[in-house]
Amino acid sequence: METGLPVEVASPESISRSVAEEINALCLARQGHLVLGLPTGHTPIRLYRELTRRVRAGLLDLSRAVTFNLDEYVGLGPEHPASFRAFMEAHLLGLVPIGQAHALRGDAPAEELAATCEAYEAAIARAGGLDLVVLGLGRNGHIGFNEPGSPRDSRTRRVALSPSTRAANAGDFPPGEPVPEAALTMGIGTILEARRVRVLAFGAHKARIVRRLLDSSPGPELPASWLHDHPDATLSVDHAAASEL
Ligand code: GLP
Repeated sequence: METGLPVEVASPESISRSVAEEINALCLARQGHLVLGLPTGHTPIRLYRELTRRVRAGLLDLSRAVTFNLDEYVGLGPEHPASFRAFMEAHLLGLVPIGQAHALRGDAPAEELAATCEAYEAAIARAGGLDLVVLGLGRNGHIGFNEPGSPRDSRTRRVALSPSTRAANAGDFPPGEPVPEAALTMGIGTILEARRVRVLAFGAHKARIVRRLLDSSPGPELPASWLHDHPDATLSVDHAAASEL
């Protein structure tokens, strides 16, 4: 196995607790001024539950933290139940006080999408850069919505979604409603500039891509493989996702 990404195998509960603990420690070290990049999907739900528990127990204060959602479907506003903004509201942002929560406006008019992405990059820079980005892993190796083919220097932008990604996410949409064909996502370059990156993958359906990721050199075919080059990125998988290692 040629890999720069250190791998940890543990239960989803224990991985989620330890990422929450790391966020907690970082937040204390920064006197609350923490800048996070956050994913949607099934993978981070336990982490968000644990962060919410800690805030409610008075152990963690995110009221000065700044968050940036990783991605959003083009055409969906926060009122759409399958939008990532709605997901984040339901699982974290609407549950605890957060200093500033940024999200990509997928419902901006088509001619404003490029400016929306540029403004997002500028907002990340103004916040002082991302201290920590948490990522899930798509079955084709995507991170955020950086699909296969995403270059290392890509920035926040509009991307076309692959048929496999649209099929994987179809269950999040009301029956008969098509998954959007495009999305906005932080770029690979944006993610690589974060000071820490924590990738999580849970479940047997992730075993194949976890194996491929650890066997790949950095390259665009498997976007998460760019993280092998990051000085402080780790991959945490449960036993099912580690079953092909
Ligand atoms: C989605 C999101 C990613 C997410 C990935 C895995 O399409 N754009 O940010 O990490 O797919 O999702 P899940 O955690 O549900 O497996």
